[in-house]
Amino acid sequence: MPTTAVVGTQWGDEGKGKVVDFLARDADIVIRSQGGNNAGHTVAVDEEVFKLYHLPCGVLHTEKTSIIGSGMAVQPFRLLDEIAGLNGRGISCENLIISHHAHLIMPYHLMFDELEEQRRCNGDCRGMIGTTKRGIGPVFADKMTRSGFRVCDLAEPVEFKERLQYILKEKNLILTELYKSEPLDPVKVADVYLDVGQKLRPFVGDTVAVVMKGLEENKNILLEGAQGTLLDIDYGIQYPFLTSSHPVSGGFCLGTGIAPNRIDNIYGVVKAYISRVGEGPFPTELKDEFGAALRDRGNEYGTATGRPRRVGWLDLVLLKYAVVINGLTNIVLTKVDVLDELPEIQVAAAYEIDGERIDTLPGDPCLLARANPIYETLPGWLIDTSGLETGDALPEPLANFLDLISEAVDVPITLLGVGTRRRQMVELG
Ligand code: GDP
Ligand code: IMO
Ligand code: MG
Repeated sequence: MPTTAVVGTQWGDEGKGKVVDFLARDADIVIRSQGGNNAGHTVAVDEEVFKLYHLPCGVLHTEKTSIIGSGMAVQPFRLLDEIAGLNGRGISCENLIISHHAHLIMPYHLMFDELEEQRRCNGDCRGMIGTTKRGIGPVFADKMTRSGFRVCDLAEPVEFKERLQYILKEKNLILTELYKSEPLDPVKVADVYLDVGQKLRPFVGDTVAVVMKGLEENKNILLEGAQGTLLDIDYGIQYPFLTSSHPVSGGFCLGTGIAPNRIDNIYGVVKAYISRVGEGPFPTELKDEFGAALRDRGNEYGTATGRPRRVGWLDLVLLKYAVVINGLTNIVLTKVDVLDELPEIQVAAAYEIDGERIDTLPGDPCLLARANPIYETLPGWLIDTSGLETGDALPEPLANFLDLISEAVDVPITLLGVGTRRRQMVELG
């Protein structure tokens, strides 16, 4: 495993954290490359459950180098809390490096995220995105307009204060005039940020240099995706119901400095059904009692925000798209055990749009809104898979379910998730 990427193929929460934790056994360096603490990655080790927001799951393997890459945005106070929380549980984060080029989530980013969602909700709420309110949209918008602050800026107090004074003039106008909210005091904001900067300093470094050296020394590098393909700002389904970064595999290069031809394997994490938090289209959504029961059985409540996740059947049209856009080499199918008790399982094989069968994703979002899934119904396996240790004697209906998926997308399924715990992962083939 020289360089392996783990990417979410759906709308996030596919179980990437658990998969990264499993693969991290063989890694030297584990890197998060995009997004921020809108992510929530869960790892269950024996009876202990860890929820990680900024930190790559590699931190749980304390001897590995863990990196917060340059494509990320960090909320420094929350990040320090996350580190302290792990320290309190006996996990040192001494091998953590935070990119000096990661962007800082500022107080006004959090306020704008919240206030803009309220503004979008005025009237019929159709424009509401259902963000995690972690300041993600506003921080990445500022990065692009070159009005942002980076972690390295905290090492230059005079310049930091000066720029903040200037930037807050505009932000305060928006706060007071548009949102009718209180302005922020540049001196107070600078003081608390410069103070937190001191605390972050021991972790801050040039992560691109660390990664380049790792590549040169043939170290095993594991890239931890956050969010999911269908939330990508350019390639997601569909604008504006997306996040403000690139969860697709191309995003790993941009967020770490690793060139595309240095990524050897791209693992796509696929949940055996689908979930989505927030607004936006979802062709196979189950809005009935059955869906509610599936949500409960799968414990589909947001790791970052606690919101109930919308759930639906696996959708091969969307998966085919994710395979191509990410260049998947392998599939990890998670939460198979959640379907154990179902006598029948449905999988969307195609869509019916205006009377026509469509096997691939229509480019036009208006068409997607009219898509009716065409399901294939498979018998369930009705066996408790949670104790499964090998793929040698899979129940036939489960083997058929796996074949249907891997044949439809022409990518092998090499790992199966059969429970929340670290050891509940079955290697296939
Ligand atoms: P991530 O954001 O992709 O890392 O996923 P989350 O951690 O937000 O959500 C996945 C949830 O499913 C977590 O509660 C995990 O503990 C749980 N999970 C992951 N893999 C499996 C699995 O194979 N079976 C079951 N039952 N739960 C799983
Ligand atoms: P992990 O890494 C699921 C969703 C939000 C919302 C949209 C935009 O745990 O899979 P944002 O706060 O990013 O501006 O919200 O994106 N979203 C996620 N959904 N898992 C995530 O991360 C998500 N990160 C963002 O719910 O619909
Ligand atoms: Mg999550």
